[in-house]
Amino acid sequence: MLDVTAIRKDFPILSREVNGKPLIYFDNAATSQTPKQVIDVIVDYYSNYNANIHRGVHTLSQEATDKYEAARKTIQTHFNAAKSHEIIFTSGTTHGINMIANGFASLLKEGDEVIVSALEHHSNIVPWQMLCEKTGAILKVIPMNENGELLMTAYETLLTENTKLVFVNHVSNALGTINPIETIINKAHEVGAAVLIDGAQASPHIKADVQALDVDFYVVSAHKMCGPTGVGVLYGKEEWLNKLPPYQGGGEMIAEVTFEKTTYADLPHKFEAGTPNICGGITFGAALDYMNAIGFDTIASYENELLEYATAKLLDIDGLRIYGNSNQKTSVISFNIGNVHPYDIGTIVDKLGIAVRTGHHCAQPIMDFYNIPGTVRASFSFYNTKEEIDIFVEAVKKAAFMLQ
Ligand code: ALA
Repeated sequence: MLDVTAIRKDFPILSREVNGKPLIYFDNAATSQTPKQVIDVIVDYYSNYNANIHRGVHTLSQEATDKYEAARKTIQTHFNAAKSHEIIFTSGTTHGINMIANGFASLLKEGDEVIVSALEHHSNIVPWQMLCEKTGAILKVIPMNENGELLMTAYETLLTENTKLVFVNHVSNALGTINPIETIINKAHEVGAAVLIDGAQASPHIKADVQALDVDFYVVSAHKMCGPTGVGVLYGKEEWLNKLPPYQGGGEMIAEVTFEKTTYADLPHKFEAGTPNICGGITFGAALDYMNAIGFDTIASYENELLEYATAKLLDIDGLRIYGNSNQKTSVISFNIGNVHPYDIGTIVDKLGIAVRTGHHCAQPIMDFYNIPGTVRASFSFYNTKEEIDIFVEAVKKAAFMLQ
């Protein structure tokens, strides 16, 4: 059982007011809030051992390096990577995807095929379009149905001996659908294709085991998981990371530099040029410790309860349509009411202290599929409550009454 009253006390922001009302934060899919245990780590870093890492013999540098590398190990354990050097620190999911897209530019040739899904965020579409433009590879798309689920039979027909890469999100940011990534990975491997899974939206709810999944690349952002913005990780199988060229040249990613030739450092440093987000990396480790202490099974089961409760209550509102009705969903509800513009609903509920995201959610192809400009998206976290959902539902009713 999750003690939500105690947990809420960990999050200072949850006791603030917005527009004179207690904040109700339902924009967790955009970014999660930060508990004081994690904020304390940021304060401790800048108060006590702020220094550059891997570069100094002095005490502060050693302390910062030890904590940064300890965080890498925490992240390795969390995702069950076989080796800590398979964990590459990035600035976030988008950065991780671009690192791989850039790396494959030297491995693909004209006529090779790459597959994305209709459910992707722009960050898992545009880098692959750029890769195809550069290499002459062909981009194919796994279609979806009205429920917001991928058509797996169609996926199987897209796979050929020319398929080199498959990119799918674990969970859709716009609809919350949990994709059958085990099957997607297995089928891709049968034709010899590598698979990158965008775990940005899954990672706050589901603990992915990269070895059990046998996934080639898995990318996440810390700020969706109670951590800070500007940091994330790319997990890559060692054999792939050794095969791919570095993304950026610079300090600390080299073995030796002369004007004639440079040799690259071993993993993970080959992919970590320049001074990284040191405090961010350390804090990401603390955020995972915080979430693991609660437990991902406990988190998922509580969030499912919130999802079911809110879905039933929202569907009682006349003219309200939910987009994304898979029975495999995280706690995300995307909806519209009649022809009311989502932005107008978002603006009215904000006046009542409630934060939701409105718009296309960086997933325009999904909005085109439903022929809508966007949706209102409410996304719940383990620190939200049914009482907050009750207030939200009343606010949505009020907005619908005013706008229709
Ligand atoms: N990708 C994030 C979202 O879905 C920002 O809101």
